Amino acid sequence: MTTAHAVVDLDVTGDTISRHLYGHFAEHLGRCIYGGFWVGEDSPIPNVRGIRSDVVAALRALRIPNLRWPGGCFADEYHWRDGVGPRQDRPTMVNTHWGDVVEDNAFGTHEFMDLCEMLGADAYVNGNVGSGTVQEMSEWVEYLTRSGDSPMARLRRQNGRDEPWQVAFWGLGNEAWGCGGHMTPEYYTSLARRYATFCRDHDGNRLTRIAAGAADADVRWTHALMSSAVSSNTPDPQPSPYQAISFHYYTHAGTGIQRESATEFDRTQYFRTVAHATGVERVISAHEAVMDAYDPERRIGLVCDEWGTWWTVEPGTNPGLLFQQNTVRDALVAGIHFDAFHRHAARLRMANIAQTLNVLQAMILTDDDGGLVLTPTYHVYEMNSPHHDAALAPSHVIETPVVAVDGDELPLISLSASTREGTGLVSITHVGVDEPIDLAVDLRGRAARVTRARVLTGPDAAAHNTPEAPAAVAPVPLAAAVDADGILRLTLPPHAFATVELALD
Ligand code: AHR
Repeated sequence: MTTAHAVVDLDVTGDTISRHLYGHFAEHLGRCIYGGFWVGEDSPIPNVRGIRSDVVAALRALRIPNLRWPGGCFADEYHWRDGVGPRQDRPTMVNTHWGDVVEDNAFGTHEFMDLCEMLGADAYVNGNVGSGTVQEMSEWVEYLTRSGDSPMARLRRQNGRDEPWQVAFWGLGNEAWGCGGHMTPEYYTSLARRYATFCRDHDGNRLTRIAAGAADADVRWTHALMSSAVSSNTPDPQPSPYQAISFHYYTHAGTGIQRESATEFDRTQYFRTVAHATGVERVISAHEAVMDAYDPERRIGLVCDEWGTWWTVEPGTNPGLLFQQNTVRDALVAGIHFDAFHRHAARLRMANIAQTLNVLQAMILTDDDGGLVLTPTYHVYEMNSPHHDAALAPSHVIETPVVAVDGDELPLISLSASTREGTGLVSITHVGVDEPIDLAVDLRGRAARVTRARVLTGPDAAAHNTPEAPAAVAPVPLAAAVDADGILRLTLPPHAFATVELALD
C-alpha cells in the first residue's frame, strides 16, 4: 500500500469558487440539441413544450448554473431570426461544420430560453461575429432583453413572449482564430470592441460580454484583448467594452487532437491523457500572468468556455456528430480540471464543459427510444456541487506517489477543498491504476467530522455506463474519518474520484 499526505487550511477563507465554473455547453451539433434536449412536442418521449423532461430533471439535480448556446463553430453561421416565429415557417439551413446536416431551426431563441427557465440556469448566448452583422447581434440582444415598446420587443411579443428574459452572458463570436473567421488577434479585437459596444444593457439586464480568445496557451490573443481592454480606459476613462475573455482547452492522449478510442486505451494513452488534463493549470496560469500585468485589480474575467475530452466517435456513428463514450478516465479528467479551476477562482469566473448531451465529454447519453444514461462525468458534477459559490480552502499535496509520463513526473493525487459556513468539502482524484493509496489529510484550523464520503470508480479506468448497466460507475459510500489529531484518513482505490463532506465547528 502506498501513502500520500495533504494539508487543508480550513480556517482560511479563500476566493469564491463561482458556481459558473460548473457551466455547460449545448451546440447544434450531433444529438446535443436535436434528439438530446429537443424531441419535439409530438414525441412519445415525455417532454414539456418539446424539451425532454428526464434530461431537465437530471440536470436540475446538478444545479446547472448556466448553459452556453448555440455554439461553438455553429454560432458563427447562425442567424437568430431564422429560429423565431411559427416553426412551420422557419427556413432551413445547412450546418456546414457538423455533419453537413439540414438544420430546420425548430429549436431557436424561445425554445432555448424556455429550456434555461426549466433548468433554472443562466443563459449564455453566443452571438455571430464570423458571418453576422453588428445590427443583427444588437437586435438579438434587444429582442431578448428589452421591455417597453421597441421594434424587437414588439417582434418578441408577436412571437408569444411578453416579458423580456434576463440574459447573463453574451459571447462575441467563437474561436475567431479558426472556424469563427480565421482572424488575427488584432483584427478580432477591433471587431469584439465594435460588436460589444452595440450589445446594450437594456432595462435591468446586465450582460457579461465575453470576447473569444485563445486556443490553449496562445497568449497572443490574451495580450491583444487585454491591452485593448485596458487602453480603452485612457485618456478618457471608459470601461472595457467586454468584461471577460475566453480560451478553449481540450484533453486528448497525444500531441495535437488525436482521435483515439474513448474506451479502448492502454496504460501509456491513459497516463498521457491524465498528464494532458493537468496541463489546463499551466494554460490558466499563462493567461492569468498576462491578465495580471494589464489588469491587477482583476476587473476582466477569464472564462474557459469549452473544455473536456475529445475522442474518436463511437463505431458506426457519423464522424461529424462527435458522439463518444464516457469512462472513469473522463471522470478523472473532470476531477483534475475542477481542482485547477478552484485554485484559480480569483480570475477564472466561468467554465463550460463540451458538451452537455451526446457530444464529446457528455453528462448524459440519450437514445431515440427514451433511454438515458448518466455518465461518470455527470457524477463528478453532482459530487462536487457543494463547491458552488463556496470559499476555496487552500490545500497542498505534501507527499504523493508519482508516475513517469514522457519524462515528467505525474502526481497520482490531486485535491482541492472549500468551506461554506459550518460545512466543508474535500475532493480527491487518484489517477494511479495499480494500487490503493492511504491518504492522510491534515485538516488545519477548525475541528471537523465526516458527514458523508463517497467514491466513484470501476473495475478499470475504461469502465462506463450503458443502457444495460446504467450504474456500473456510480458513487458509493467510502470509509473515511477524522482522527483525534484532526487528520482525515481514507483509502482510495485505484482510478477513483472521491468527495468527503465535513461538518465544521
Ligand atoms: O465543441 C465542439 C467544437 O469544438 C466547437 O464547436 C468549437 O468551438 C470547438 O472547436
